Amino acid sequence: MKRILICGSNGLLGQRLCLMLGNQTEYEVLNTSHHRSFVLENQLFDYTQLDITHKSDVKSLISSFQPTVIFNAAAATNVDWCETHREEAWKINVNGVENLIEAARKVEAKLIHVSTDYIFDGKHSPYREDDRPEPLSYYGKSKLAAENALRTSEICYAIVRTIVVYGYGINVKRNFPLWVLENLRAGNSIRCAEDQVNNPTYVGDLARSLVKIMERDREGIYHVCGSEAASRLTFAHRVAEVFNLDASLIHSVKSSDLQLAARRPLQTSFVLEKAQRDLGIEPLDVRQGLTLLKQELEQSRRN
Ligand SMILES: NC(=O)c1ccc[n+]([C@@H]2O[C@H](COP(=O)([O-])OP(=O)(O)OC[C@H]3O[C@@H](n4cnc5c(N)ncnc54)[C@H](OP(=O)(O)O)[C@@H]3O)[C@@H](O)[C@H]2O)c1
Repeated sequence: MKRILICGSNGLLGQRLCLMLGNQTEYEVLNTSHHRSFVLENQLFDYTQLDITHKSDVKSLISSFQPTVIFNAAAATNVDWCETHREEAWKINVNGVENLIEAARKVEAKLIHVSTDYIFDGKHSPYREDDRPEPLSYYGKSKLAAENALRTSEICYAIVRTIVVYGYGINVKRNFPLWVLENLRAGNSIRCAEDQVNNPTYVGDLARSLVKIMERDREGIYHVCGSEAASRLTFAHRVAEVFNLDASLIHSVKSSDLQLAARRPLQTSFVLEKAQRDLGIEPLDVRQGLTLLKQELEQSRRN
């Protein structure tokens, strides 16, 4: 039986991984995250609090659970917060991963980690797995440093880079369509960048690709993103269309008008060839992903 440790189980991706793997009889899954309690605690999944920056806790939990595979979905994911809280961001995004690497090495576990398009500068999209990284933000720098720690670790690892992840999760940080929804439903005007173009990724596609990496025993770097490129403006319009909301509240701006703390790559898309070939995944386009999000939100209201 495979023993699976999930780090960051309270997050958008972590919850999805737990729901995909937690009820399967061939796996023993232990969920962990930073917070004392688990957002899915009413569903009787195993959960233990684990801060990945606490080296000795990481070491002792991993040596007692003896996982075959570790999924790392834990990270500091707020790009502007990382820009202004560099030390804390580095501790989570780099030192946390180093702690996992060291502990994984001792029990010979495979570490499946998640990274980002923000390691690129957006000038040479679409990107392949071996293209040269050039991060613009501190978040991107920290995620690249974690990748480098894995690449030089000599443990068994896989890295999945992804782009603008969205979907439903309990108490998750508001992702872009949830932010659009909240504002349009409240009748608030929103400003969306017309010049920031990338491929939004439905969280179910991302989680499935991580699971496929485990099932097919793949290693190395994989690019996984939605099948359609959309500017933030177009993405917001799609939300209005799928949820039948007032699109006249959406206003077009340039990203520079938003005056965000961190610089972002303006154009990022991935070449999906390797993931399609090795993992057999066919990611959704924006409308398809939003339609699933709508169903999930309706379902959560019924529960
Ligand atoms: N979201 C995106 O648009 C996007 C895009 C590209 C790549 N990614 C990458 O995808 C991965 C998953 O992202 P996500 O959207 O699922 O993130 P998320 O919803 O922000 O969840 C991250 C989780 O990490 C946990 N965490 C933070 N610090 C921790 C620590 N020190 N120890 C243990 N757990 C900690 C938090 O747990 P608690 O809730 O328990 O505090 C949080 O729930 C990340 O590696 C991210 O960099 C995300």
